[in-house]
Amino acid sequence: MIKVGIIGDIVGRIGRRMLITNLAKIKEEYNIDFIVANTENASGGFGISYKNANEILKSGVDVLTGGNHSFDKTDIIPFMDTLPILRPLNFPNEVPGRGIYIKDNIAVINAMGHYGININLDNVFFALENAIQSLQKQGIKNIIVDFHAEASSEKRMAFCMLRGRISALFGTHTHIGSDDLHIQNDSFYVSDLGLCGAYDGVIGMDYEAPLYKAKMGYGKSCYKVLDNGNNIFQMVILSIEDGKCKEAFKLRILNNRRLDDIRAVIL
Ligand SMILES: [Fe+2]
Ligand SMILES: [Fe+2]
Repeated sequence: MIKVGIIGDIVGRIGRRMLITNLAKIKEEYNIDFIVANTENASGGFGISYKNANEILKSGVDVLTGGNHSFDKTDIIPFMDTLPILRPLNFPNEVPGRGIYIKDNIAVINAMGHYGININLDNVFFALENAIQSLQKQGIKNIIVDFHAEASSEKRMAFCMLRGRISALFGTHTHIGSDDLHIQNDSFYVSDLGLCGAYDGVIGMDYEAPLYKAKMGYGKSCYKVLDNGNNIFQMVILSIEDGKCKEAFKLRILNNRRLDDIRAVIL
């Protein structure tokens, strides 16, 4: 049995602080072997810097996943081949970095959906199918997929295509945690893990700049990570045996307060 922790988009300094404050204790309490975290917004809300990547890896995260903001901080690019940092696998081959990370008998795949994502990508469903077949040929059973997408329908399509062949598929990108955690055909699913960071604004950012842009059709000021109010840390802990997810729950800490866990339904 292995235990894997999965964490959604970490937003800015507040998100990093919530991670660093809480992770070591939780890892120890639940005997977690391996942690995956999405860090596409970890540095000032946009991208992940080399310095912050190291800070997060040192805090106990094993592999960092990304998304549409993977390349916003360009100093990370030379390290994408050596550090355990993924960008979505369906970026064209010419793009730096990789979309699959393998350690021991665990594989993590980072994929990105198409709807509302204004980047030229390869077809995510073919890319995932090819990746899963290749991992199966290598005999790797514990397969975790971060499906970074706007549309839950794309996440559902990918899950329906892969359930029974993967350990887990979780959504990231919306920063809004969903309550549809379940296990079907031994595979875990949730539409979005939700953010780790400031809770009171808009997806971890101060609401004023995005609201101005939404009202006026043009932006007046830069988006800033919200640095006050309530903060949340949330992660799902998976129990996996021989590639099959047996049990899962979501743990949430609002400021210092542990909220009720959300258990995955077994279908
Ligand atoms: Fe994000
Ligand atoms: Fe994103």
